[in-house]
Order: sequence, then structure tokens, then C-alpha cells
Amino acid sequence: MHEDIGKILLTEEEIKARVRELGAQLKQDYAGKEVVVIALLKGAAYFATDLTLAMDMPVKIDFMVASSYGNSTNSCGNVSVKLDVAEELAGRHVILVDDIIDTGLTLEAVCCMLQQHKPASIKTAVMCDKADRRVNGKSADYVGFCIPDEFAVGYGLDYAGNYRNLPYIGVLKPCVYART
Ligand code: PRP
Ligand code: MG
Repeated sequence: MHEDIGKILLTEEEIKARVRELGAQLKQDYAGKEVVVIALLKGAAYFATDLTLAMDMPVKIDFMVASSYGNSTNSCGNVSVKLDVAEELAGRHVILVDDIIDTGLTLEAVCCMLQQHKPASIKTAVMCDKADRRVNGKSADYVGFCIPDEFAVGYGLDYAGNYRNLPYIGVLKPCVYART
């Protein structure tokens, strides 16, 4: 285990097993449909890769870099897009993939933006759900694990850009973020 990690929340084996289950579920739910999986970078890089491999069906993959910058009365109005989708979404079934739903603002805003492309449907898949942190009513359609409100890193989750490539999800030792 990395020296900055205090405890492991989800082991590599638990993550792999759950991603396989979610992939099988999506394969069943989207059979025969034209699917575009959109990964929200950077956090979703690992989950979206493993999930689409586990889906084992024809899908298109696309990427977005978008982040929310706080509350707004218009949920589409609080997101900054640094890289937009390139794939045609109209009439297609979109699965928006992220590493975590926290306040819910990012998924709410990005879903709102994607609706403007007139897809046949939009659903969301996240590896982790920190439900205690939600500020809106947003929920993800496919959830890997519900996790407590602790400083989790790994499998895409970062602290100051680090720890994303840990193959497990762990809680950062408080002394690490107290240093800054
Ligand atoms: C993080 C995380 C989710 C989002 C969740 O992304 O990857 O995308 O925040 O937070 P929310 O539910 O409160 O909106 P971030 O914007 O930090 O960028 P990153 O994916 O590059 O780490
Ligand atoms: Mg993110």
C-alpha cells in the first residue's frame, strides 16, 4: 500500500469484480442499441476504460473535459467545457461515465449540456457515490459503490492531480493534505 494511504476502502479485486458486474448489466440493458459512452476526464479515465471493456459489445467512445464551478439557478450554466464531444449523439443512447458523484453538480450540468444534442437517452454510470455530499437531487443510474465522505483517492480519484493510478481506492492520510 502507498505510504500516503491510511486505509483501503475498495481493493483492486473488489473494483474489478464490480466493474465486470456493471459491464454485464449494461450489455444487457443496451443490447441492440447504438451506444456512445462519454468519459469525463480526467477522473473517469480508468473506470470508463475498464467498463467499456467489460461491456463487451459495440459502442462508440468519446471524452469530455468539463467541470462545474458552483451553484447556479440554471444547471447548464455552471459548467466550463475544455474539451467537448466530437461524436454525433442525436438519436443515440448516451452513457455518461465518471469516477465519482459528489455534490452532483458536474453530472447535472453535463447531462443538461448533452440533452441539447438530442440523444435518444442519457444515463450516468459512476464508480463511487458520495451521497452525503449531494447538494442537488441528482443520482447516478449505475453506481459501483457508495462510499463515505472521506478523502478517497485512486482508480481515477486524485488529490492535487496525484494518486489517480493507484489500482485500489483508499483514504488519504490527513497529514498529506495538512502539509499544504
Ligand atoms: C471531480 C470528479 C467528478 C467531479 C465530482 O472532477 O472526477 O468529475 O469532480 O464532483 P461533483 O459531483 O461535486 O461535481 P474534477 O472536476 O475535480 O476534475 P478531474 O476529473 O480532472 O479530477
Ligand atoms: Mg472529474
